[in-house]
Amino acid sequence: MAEVNPSQQPTVPAAQAIHHELRNAENSAAFVLPTLQSMKMSNPYLALLDVGAGSGTISASFAKALPDGHITAVDLNPNILPRARAVAEAAGVTNIDFQQADVKKLPFADASFDITFCHQTLTHMSAPEDALREMLRVTKPGGIVAAREGDFETEAVWPDLPGLVKFHRFAAELMRSAGGTPTAGRQLLSWALEAGAERSKVAVSFGTWSYHTQSDKDTWARGLIAVVKGGPMREKGLNAGLTTEGDLDEMIHDWEKWAASSDSSVAMLHGEILIQR
Ligand SMILES: C[S@@+](CC[C@H](N)C(=O)[O-])C[C@H]1O[C@@H](n2cnc3c(N)ncnc32)[C@H](O)[C@@H]1O
Repeated sequence: MAEVNPSQQPTVPAAQAIHHELRNAENSAAFVLPTLQSMKMSNPYLALLDVGAGSGTISASFAKALPDGHITAVDLNPNILPRARAVAEAAGVTNIDFQQADVKKLPFADASFDITFCHQTLTHMSAPEDALREMLRVTKPGGIVAAREGDFETEAVWPDLPGLVKFHRFAAELMRSAGGTPTAGRQLLSWALEAGAERSKVAVSFGTWSYHTQSDKDTWARGLIAVVKGGPMREKGLNAGLTTEGDLDEMIHDWEKWAASSDSSVAMLHGEILIQR
């Protein structure tokens, strides 16, 4: 197992996960909850798989919503798992376990889960249809596959300070250079069809998030500043020649200015799909 990076100790979120920890099932998986509740009425012992769970704040709230069910949370990055376990422990949930796994090669038998879920995971990888095909494989007939992905190109930020415009272009380029898709939200349905889902069995919706309270803006800016200052974005961006030290400093300066400004906000559209298996 890879060495635990000091920035990914259980007591603190990893730089890239600071703002992820604002997420829970209510604010990030509301499109799944009515179906989850109706499935729970006929079977309280539901098995839910969360792939690319990260710090697992959404997984932990699914565990609360399914007190007699069981949550399996997996992530490709083993270093994030100690933090996810600590988040679940702090939330007081025990019906959850964590393991390292690649969504494209899940270590589970066919038809193992009632619900297979991912949030902001497919946007970061190449061939996301392969991931959805694998999620469908491990889901029981009669179960559901649910995915929600941001559409980074719909990010609406105000004030549009020059450093933030540079940040947006840089983050989108970095995502593309790693095989990801900054327009994932609008492409989710096509990926589901490529993965073999029947159109009549896919329900599509779009949701938004927005950060405009002082506390949310502080967390958002703190997270982005952490990755730009010393986190993975800085190193990868400089190594790939996608940015410069001067531009990174301008991005940090303008995120600080944005968070301190009383009229600032940021919002983004998200695509959501529910596939009946
Ligand atoms: C943006 S984070 C989202 C975390 C969490 N779902 C949330 O919304 O807070 C994306 C996560 O997907 C994981 N990931 C990326 N590729 C993966 C893969 N092939 N298999 C499993 N997890 C993967 C990353 O390690 C990361 O923790």
